[in-house]
Amino acid sequence: MNKLYIEGNKQLSGNVRISGSKNAALPILFMSILTKEKVQLTNVPKLTDIDTTIQLLKYLGAKIKNKKKILHIDTSLIKSNCPPYHLTKKIRASIWLLAPLLIRFGKAKIFLPGGCKIGSRPIDLHIKGLIELGANITLEDNYIFATIEKPLIGKNIYIQKVSVGATITIMGAAALSEGTTVIENAAREPEIIDIAKFLNTLGANIIGAGNNKIFIKGVSRLFGGTHKVIPDRIETGTFLIGAAISQGNVICHQTEPKFLKNVLIKLLESGAKINIGKNWIQLDMRGKKPKSINIATSPYPGFPTDLQPQFTLLNTISQSEGITTENIFENRFIYVSELIKMGAQIKIKKNSVICKGVSHLQSQNVFSTDLRGAATLVLAGCIASGITIVNNIYHFERGYELFSEKLNKLGANIKHI
Ligand code: UD1
Repeated sequence: MNKLYIEGNKQLSGNVRISGSKNAALPILFMSILTKEKVQLTNVPKLTDIDTTIQLLKYLGAKIKNKKKILHIDTSLIKSNCPPYHLTKKIRASIWLLAPLLIRFGKAKIFLPGGCKIGSRPIDLHIKGLIELGANITLEDNYIFATIEKPLIGKNIYIQKVSVGATITIMGAAALSEGTTVIENAAREPEIIDIAKFLNTLGANIIGAGNNKIFIKGVSRLFGGTHKVIPDRIETGTFLIGAAISQGNVICHQTEPKFLKNVLIKLLESGAKINIGKNWIQLDMRGKKPKSINIATSPYPGFPTDLQPQFTLLNTISQSEGITTENIFENRFIYVSELIKMGAQIKIKKNSVICKGVSHLQSQNVFSTDLRGAATLVLAGCIASGITIVNNIYHFERGYELFSEKLNKLGANIKHI
C-alpha cells in the first residue's frame, strides 16, 4: 500500500488531535543511551521514523516496550557501538547515535545518515563540536569513526551555522563532560528546549535552551526518569493549512500555540480567522479565498522550513502572487514540479518560488519525494477537482501519525491503494 487515492473538492472541518513532536521524540530516544537507568516516554508519535529508531536501539541491545501508550526504554544492556547501515541509512536522525554511543563505549562507528533528499545535509558541525570537546574523529568513505581516550572536557563552542542537529549532538555530549560547555549560536527550536528538559529530568545541568547561548555543566552520570514529548508544531501547521486551502474550519487540539507564533501571523495575513486557547488553535477560512503571502524560511523563531511546501500550496490557490524563499535547505522545491502538474502556476528563481494563484488545482497522478512535500501533495489532492493519486506515501508516513485517517475525520476521502 504505497499509494493514496484522494477524492478532491473537499472542505476540511472539525477537530484533530495533534501528536507528539517527531523532531523532539527522535533525539530524545537516541539520548536515552546516555543513561543506563530506565526511561519512560509519553506522547511519542507512531511513525515509521520512530519505528526505525526503536529498531536501531533494539539492535544495539536496548529493551523497549510500549505499555498503555508509555514507551519503556532500558538501555542498560546495550553492547554494540556500531549500528547497522540498513537502518541508519533510513533516517537522518541516526547521526544522534554518535555522541551517546561514543560517551557510553569510548568509541563508535556510525554510517553516514540517510533521510529526506532536500539538500546536501552535511554533518560537519556535529563532528566539529565533538572534536572541540576532545573526541578523535575520522571520516571514511561512508562512515564516521570516533574515539575518546578520556572524558570529554567542556568548552566554549561557537556553531558557525545555526543547526538543530549539531546543537543537540553537542548538548548531549556536553551533559556528561567534565566542566562547563557554552554553546553559542545555538538553535532555539522548541524541540531543543524539550531535549534539554528531558536530559535535566535525568540529572543533567543544562540552562538556557531556547536562547542562542546554552550553558551545560557536565555531570558524572545520568539517572532514569519520565518525560512527555511536546506537541508537533509542524503537524499542527499542516492541518491549519489544510483548513485554509479548503476554506474550512479546523481546531487543532493538544498543541502548543506559542510554538507557532510566526506561522499564525502569516495565516492571519492570508485572511484566516484564528482563535487560540491554552492548548488549541482554531483556523476558520469559511467563505473566503486565501490571500497570497510572502514567506522566507529561517531558524526558529523564524518561519520553519518544514512548513514551506505547505505554504507554497496555499499560494497556488490564493488571490494574487506570493513568493516563498527557502534559506535553510538548497533542494527543498522538489515537490514544485508535481504541483505544476496539478495546474499550479509556479516559477522557481534561485532559492525562491513565485506563485500566481489559480482558481483550482486539477487531480493528477503525483509522486512524492520527501516528507513535507508528500504531505503537501496529499493536501493538494483534497482540494483538487477529481481523483488524485499520490505515490510513494512512505515519505509522509515517516513524519505524520495517522495522517490520512485524521484528514478523513475532517471530511477528506482518502484511501490507501
Ligand atoms: C532538523 C529537522 C528538520 C528541519 C531542520 C531545520 C529533525 C529530525 N530534523 O534537521 O525537520 O527541517 O532541523 O529546522 O529534527 N548544516 C551544516 N552542517 C551540519 C548540520 C547542518 O551545514 O553539520 C546545515 C544544513 O545543511 C542546513 C542547516 O545547517 O542548511 C540547518 O540544518 P539543521 O538545523 O542541522 O537541520 P537538521 O538537524 O538536519
